[in-house]
Amino acid sequence: MFGRVKSLDAILATAEKKSLQRSLGAFQLTMLGIGAVIGTGIFVLTAEAAQKAGPGMMISFVIAGFVCAVAALCYAEMSAMVPVSGSAYTYSYAVMGELVAWTVGWALILEYAIAAGAVSVGWSGYMIGFIQSSLHITIPLELVRGPFDGGIINLPAMAIAGLVTWLLVLGTRESATVNAVLVSVKIGALSLFVILTLPLIKGENFVPFAPLGFSGISGAAASIFFAYVGFDAVSTAAEETKNPQRNMPIGLIGSLGICTIFYMLVASGVIGTVGAQPVFGPNQEVLSPGTTALSQACTAINEAAVVCSKEALAWTLRQVGYPLVGYLVGAAAIIALPSVILMMMFGQTRIFFVMSRDGLLPEFFSRVHPRYHTPYLITILTGVGVALFAAFFPVGLLADVSNTGTLFAFAAVSIAVLVLRRTDPNRHRPFRTPFVMITAPISIAGCVYLFFSLSQVTLLLFVGWALIGFVVYYTYSRSRSHVGRGFIEVHEDDAGIPPQPVPPIA
Ligand code: ALA
Repeated sequence: MFGRVKSLDAILATAEKKSLQRSLGAFQLTMLGIGAVIGTGIFVLTAEAAQKAGPGMMISFVIAGFVCAVAALCYAEMSAMVPVSGSAYTYSYAVMGELVAWTVGWALILEYAIAAGAVSVGWSGYMIGFIQSSLHITIPLELVRGPFDGGIINLPAMAIAGLVTWLLVLGTRESATVNAVLVSVKIGALSLFVILTLPLIKGENFVPFAPLGFSGISGAAASIFFAYVGFDAVSTAAEETKNPQRNMPIGLIGSLGICTIFYMLVASGVIGTVGAQPVFGPNQEVLSPGTTALSQACTAINEAAVVCSKEALAWTLRQVGYPLVGYLVGAAAIIALPSVILMMMFGQTRIFFVMSRDGLLPEFFSRVHPRYHTPYLITILTGVGVALFAAFFPVGLLADVSNTGTLFAFAAVSIAVLVLRRTDPNRHRPFRTPFVMITAPISIAGCVYLFFSLSQVTLLLFVGWALIGFVVYYTYSRSRSHVGRGFIEVHEDDAGIPPQPVPPIA
């Protein structure tokens, strides 16, 4: 089962040829992390977390942030040591073999493509809220929400996914300057929110603190984990980092730390001003976010609760008498969220690209556009998938499903770090996970705990997806795998050139 391992030396030889300049310091890494992390999670899913945990969502934010921090430290060791495209998929191939790598790559499709769908839906919520409240026109709900959320199709979410796909086909990559501007926009919006809401906090809004008990807090932590996803962007820049041993952990933990503090402050602002108690059904039954039952209960109370809002932060500001700032925060989300979609979709195309180059997915996936030099076919295919998810599914479900894939991949990377410390202890490690014998097991346990705190439906979808993956692997990929057939790795830049056959390594 673990037989088909891709040689770490071959992978590293590929990476060395790329030899990017080491130019990033701790500050740039932290900015990169914040740019990729702050998005739909805090701007939209705060409402979903409130529905699951009430004010206790403050603890959910801490739990999810902590699990991410320990996983980030494991990620950093692997990415500094194996700084190539494909992240968790590539590490798993080198350490645990093809089947595990395939499963991780398959799970990463959930992480990236579905997350891009979730952020598109989040963007749509803000866009519609902005148009409706500023122009005072009512857009038919049927056209801006999916069928599980009281509508038919989410057209704005589809449109933004299409736009980002087009940018990616043209070869758009976000520059450090654009990232810095967008980070400032997001941090500015969240700071404004905190400054205006904190003085209005009322202690009684925090009571009852955990109306649905600790299981509610765990469920919200598993969902809100989405708010932290994206920091792996920092680890994938390992190769371009000056003094990675020092700067990687500062970048990873720094960006996660800053996001956690902001998330806690924003969550207290929401809870303390407008309250964050869940909305119950007519018979006091607990309602899950993103269900028709919750939409109906919300209509019955005239949408007068933050858990009903699709643009939680802008809604809160309007409620407490700052409609203008509400528009500004909404505008910030509208401007900044597409860059998160871009990063997620870019990550997805890279994963498909690398898997195709390894022979596990069809060759056309890695075909490069003659003029734009981008993997355009797979980008378009990814874009169609993302647009369809975004059109028909609610943001919370998409975020939860994406989390299953991410948690799976993080756990696999944490295991890979431990395995490689044992099987290859002398290899040069530019960054070593501190106290790995404690950190990695905590990371694995944390991922398992959050994974199983997700809803049954989400877990079933994950299992279904994994089963489809096994069918594809055994009917298609296994017999075409380049490692299985004894081909060696080709250089990143030689993407269009077919691999050279060499005698299989004994
Ligand atoms: N962490 C990113 C977000 O919240 C994915 O949108």
